[in-house]
Amino acid sequence: MQYETFATLPQADQLSAEHSARVGRYLQQRIADAGGDLSFAEFMHEALYAPGLGYYSAGATKFGGAGDFTTAPEISPLFGRIVARQCSEALRDVRDSEVLEIGAGSGRLAADMLVAFESLGGVPPVYNILEVSPDLQARQRQRLEQEVPHLLSRVRWLSGLPDQFNGVVVANEVLDALPVERFVRRDGQVFQSCVSCSGDQFVWSERPASRKIIAAVAEIESDLGAALRDGYISELSFAAPAFVRDLSVSLQQGIAFLFDYGVSRREYYAPDRSDGWLRCHFRHHAHNDPLILPGIQDLTAWVDFSAIAAAAVDCGLDIHGFQTQSQFLMGGGLEQEMQNFEALPTARQLELSGQIKTLTLPGEMGENFKCMALGRGEIDTPSAFHFADRTQTL
Ligand SMILES: C[S@@+](CC[C@H](N)C(=O)[O-])C[C@H]1O[C@@H](n2cnc3c(N)ncnc32)[C@H](O)[C@@H]1O
Repeated sequence: MQYETFATLPQADQLSAEHSARVGRYLQQRIADAGGDLSFAEFMHEALYAPGLGYYSAGATKFGGAGDFTTAPEISPLFGRIVARQCSEALRDVRDSEVLEIGAGSGRLAADMLVAFESLGGVPPVYNILEVSPDLQARQRQRLEQEVPHLLSRVRWLSGLPDQFNGVVVANEVLDALPVERFVRRDGQVFQSCVSCSGDQFVWSERPASRKIIAAVAEIESDLGAALRDGYISELSFAAPAFVRDLSVSLQQGIAFLFDYGVSRREYYAPDRSDGWLRCHFRHHAHNDPLILPGIQDLTAWVDFSAIAAAAVDCGLDIHGFQTQSQFLMGGGLEQEMQNFEALPTARQLELSGQIKTLTLPGEMGENFKCMALGRGEIDTPSAFHFADRTQTL
């Protein structure tokens, strides 16, 4: 993967630079209050979600052309239409079913899915949105008011997972936005990567890893059948399996579709992947320094889908399938969506072709992004997974 360096990144505009300076001062104070360092997971959590300051909690544009990165629903309404098709199948199998979207971003996917449900002839009685960012909640409401005002009464914003939920859960690029710990294997020991201050800069520091991290690294090495080599750096997510556990408590009957960029554990901790999977986005430039541009760049980490699968199985969820985004779209209804393609004006055909390429080509989002479907209860496996399933690779 080619990353940019700080020198080649675009300059922040004045308002963003001022906001970043405020977030920087807040983080410096948090580090001082904590005695000189924060674990990377704490730093990432604050940089993304500190109320009124963090990247997702404050007012930056984030999504789409004017923001920092583009997600599948922002690229094409086809994504939401096909997700809605797959959801419709599962919704038919479940009594009193609703939809729950977790981490709805700009509201793009919600708007597209509601329109698609309508054209498929079955808008669910309730489309729940669980979103941690009040700023994004407001933007989601605004978009839905503008684009689907007649369906707004079906949309409900939640402050936490429902105690009991029946239906379909969708989360696109949420797992990668959950804070991760970073660790280093050195001299036969495990160290936890932390963030400290040097003047007004943030710098990496280390402490001996907690028992929890040491146990998690030992489990990884046992799964791999080999120790990670000296100097090996990578990430560990405790938040992502916890997310699955919380979801499993809520989900009584239904299916959860989790989309994200990620790989199996074997690939995640491959010997040549010795610098981890953190990725930062600033104005559509990807780089790997999470310690700069606090509060105005997105921080993400790829997902270890084997860990997600293991957490799901531990909680008694069924794994209905695991596949690439490309396989999901092709098996999930892309062909049906394209039935009238030839009747479209040429300009529209070209536009759609470009969107499909971005969503499905291996060098774009097709291979790196995966979909995992987890379920509980008597539910047929969604048809997308009849096309292809890679669960055995996990
Ligand atoms: C990378 S964005 C993806 C947004 C959207 N799903 C999309 O595909 O465009 C991550 C989203 O997850 C939200 N989020 C992060 N952690 C969350 C959590 N624990 N519960 C609910 N939403 C969360 C963020 O505020 C943001 O809306």
